[in-house]
Amino acid sequence: MSPPNPNPLDPDDLEKARDAALDAFSAVAVLADLPAAKTAHLGDRAPILLARRSLGTLPSTERAEAGKRVNVVLQAVQASYDARKAELEAERDARVLAEESVDVTVLPDRLPVGARHPLTTIQERIEDVFVAMGWEVAEGPEVEHEWFNFDALNFGRDHPAREMQDTLFVAPEGSGLVLRTHTSPVQIRSLLDRELPIYVICPGRTYRADALDATHSPVFSQVEGLVVDEGITMAHLRGALDHFAAAMFGEGMRTRLRPSYFPFTEPSAELDLQCFECRGASAEPGGEPCRVCSSEGWIEWGGCGMVNPAVLRACGVDPERYSGFAFGMGIERTLMFRHGVTDIRDFYEGDQRFTLPFGMEA
Ligand code: DAH
Repeated sequence: MSPPNPNPLDPDDLEKARDAALDAFSAVAVLADLPAAKTAHLGDRAPILLARRSLGTLPSTERAEAGKRVNVVLQAVQASYDARKAELEAERDARVLAEESVDVTVLPDRLPVGARHPLTTIQERIEDVFVAMGWEVAEGPEVEHEWFNFDALNFGRDHPAREMQDTLFVAPEGSGLVLRTHTSPVQIRSLLDRELPIYVICPGRTYRADALDATHSPVFSQVEGLVVDEGITMAHLRGALDHFAAAMFGEGMRTRLRPSYFPFTEPSAELDLQCFECRGASAEPGGEPCRVCSSEGWIEWGGCGMVNPAVLRACGVDPERYSGFAFGMGIERTLMFRHGVTDIRDFYEGDQRFTLPFGMEA
């Protein structure tokens, strides 16, 4: 290894040092890298500065000329550094201006858009399904008279559904008012208010003295359907329900009726929906287990039946001439199947992180 140049003032070496400095400055691409290049070429230990420091060692006859040479080189390097620095600063300023510019004409987006509640949007969707077939939307009060909620629907005086643990009674005692326990009283109001024939769908809020847990709520929603016309049979009920199931859960979704009892329908049936998850496969021998339907293959959706002639009579409709069908189901339950919601409380907490993913569905 050759020893370091003993004479830092060698003119060739000075020129080389200058060229190296100029090359290094122009090679710096960003402002942040410039200080390192400066230290290397203009710092205390840079060749040119070392050269200047060694001027004192020269005999005075040579010092002036050598000093001039060093100064010329130093000025050139300093000027090159200053120019590159100015260039890089200008570039940075232009970039920052572009990146941080504020478009004052853009509309503010700070107002949260909010969300429509899935219970609202599904009720409207259900209404649309039936209105498209010519049905009408009917409503009734949530604080309802017992006569509409029970008596006219053929619930006997001692029917267990009237009992305290189910029904929320409205004070004072003996007011005859309850918070409606189902949407079925809208059947009675429709029969009394409307001209026959009747084709109505009635979604709405209902109340029961249930404790709030993952599958129960004291406030929930139901949808009621009622048709009363001449010549209505159970086949019409079946057709309407299949159409409804297809509209809610997809074409080809099967339904099943199981004999049951409701005071206001005769015959009555429980309405089951084919499990939309396994499509019934989990109930077949060797089928994969299904969590949605507990491997039953079917999910309970609601109740239905042919309107009990006693109900028609209570509303002044001649059961010899008219017949009808009715059905009712829980709306939260419908949404829970449809979207895999496992906790009913999610519907009532008003958290937009839950409601927003359902979309706005105008
Ligand atoms: N009202 C019933 C309930 O809340 C549901 C129901 C069953 C409604 C049968 C109906 C029906 O219209 O026909 O449990």
